Amino acid sequence: MSIATVQVEGYETFTVSVGTCLLDACEENGVPIESACGGFAACNSCRVDVSEMSSLSPLVEEEEAFLDSPSHRLACQCQVLSDVRLSLAPGM
Ligand code: FES
Repeated sequence: MSIATVQVEGYETFTVSVGTCLLDACEENGVPIESACGGFAACNSCRVDVSEMSSLSPLVEEEEAFLDSPSHRLACQCQVLSDVRLSLAPGM
């Protein structure tokens, strides 16, 4: 099983299995990301700002209406593929 490191600005760095949902990974490691819709790409509350998009699974159509920056993703809609750095998006 491959492991990746997740660095969230202002929080402890942690590791996850490659393929883990980013929202689940953050919730399980004490990063307070909101998930008002339960992870169905319907609320925009889990938006994060990511430094290296190739570290995450590709953008899905359901996210596009919510994202106003090419560095933003919905944490509920992406899986961690390799080491990644991110911050909670402004306004969260
Ligand atoms: S949890 Fe609602 S959009 Fe991700």
